[in-house]
Amino acid sequence: MWVLLGGTGMLGQDLQRVLTTAGREFVALGSADCDIRDLDAVRAAVSVTGSAAGESRSLGSSGVRVVVNCAAWTAVDAAEAHEAEAFAINAVGARNAAVVAREVGARFVHVSTDYVFDGAAQGAYGEDHPQAPRSAYGRTKVAGEWAVRAADPDAYVVRTAWLYGAGGGNFVKTMLRLAGERNTLTVVADQEGQPTWTHDLAELIVRLVDSGAPGGYYHGTSSGATSWHGFAQEIFRLSGLDPARVNPISTEQFPTPAQRPANSVLGHDAFASVGIDPIADWADRLATALPAVSDVLSAASPATAPSTNDSQNQG
Ligand SMILES: NC(=O)c1ccc[n+]([C@@H]2O[C@H](COP(=O)([O-])OP(=O)(O)OC[C@H]3O[C@@H](n4cnc5c(N)ncnc54)[C@H](OP(=O)(O)O)[C@@H]3O)[C@@H](O)[C@H]2O)c1
Repeated sequence: MWVLLGGTGMLGQDLQRVLTTAGREFVALGSADCDIRDLDAVRAAVSVTGSAAGESRSLGSSGVRVVVNCAAWTAVDAAEAHEAEAFAINAVGARNAAVVAREVGARFVHVSTDYVFDGAAQGAYGEDHPQAPRSAYGRTKVAGEWAVRAADPDAYVVRTAWLYGAGGGNFVKTMLRLAGERNTLTVVADQEGQPTWTHDLAELIVRLVDSGAPGGYYHGTSSGATSWHGFAQEIFRLSGLDPARVNPISTEQFPTPAQRPANSVLGHDAFASVGIDPIADWADRLATALPAVSDVLSAASPATAPSTNDSQNQG
């Protein structure tokens, strides 16, 4: 039995789909089902799930074999003015989840972010590169990483970045919506990263757990790299729209409350060292993902479409 904390979010929804396809038992919990800021609430949710697991009981002392923490405060800009609230979820909540997973003998997976780094490195960040966050959100996620590793040295901390998927507001959906509203767009061209489909990350997490690889830091992003501008142009090209409608601007021309890493590119040595292939090239994966992500967009009412600010607001 798997327990997905934050199982209602964008990544959580794709984990649900991947686990369903794989025929695995799981329970997906949102904040209304289990507030991870409350240790007793996490204990109660995991223990109820474990009791319901019935014959799975032999897999772990409680029947719960894996706990994945996808729950987070992900509003990067809002965290600048609400760091304590973000800390309560991203650090205290993450610790609570790790503590309970350890107590019941379950493998723990915690999802973290490129924002733990300073964004100033040349080349890809290695898993052991020192954390040096430049934003409130990044500080809370670093605290979460440390708290998780202290509570459960066998935990997997999977850092990801630039996520998009069917189940949440994200850059792909924003670009497709704006393409229908404006003739031309301006998009930041001096930040590099790896657009990553939540479905691919979900599959990677399942492979990691199944491998029984040692705990530690792993980087769950697509291969290759591009800028937000390059990402937007590829979304346009794959959608049959003219990429020349997307014009480059600099970070300086698009000020945001939270500082974005100029370099968000993450290296994949840890996955390679345990014999797990990283996610394939971002552009190839975008071509596969786009029908699923844009289908959801065309089905959405205007009221549920993401706001312009969603484009680079999530971490
Ligand atoms: N999105 C990105 O581009 C990105 C980039 C790098 C890293 N990450 C990391 O990837 C992970 C998943 O992100 P995502 O984009 O899937 O997030 P998301 O769509 O914003 O979902 C967040 C989830 O957290 C839950 N949650 C919020 N507060 C909670 C609380 N107090 N107790 C329990 N659950 C709570 C939400 O539940 P309800 O909806 O039920 O309230 C929701 O299920 C996070 O750790 C995030 O930091 C994301």
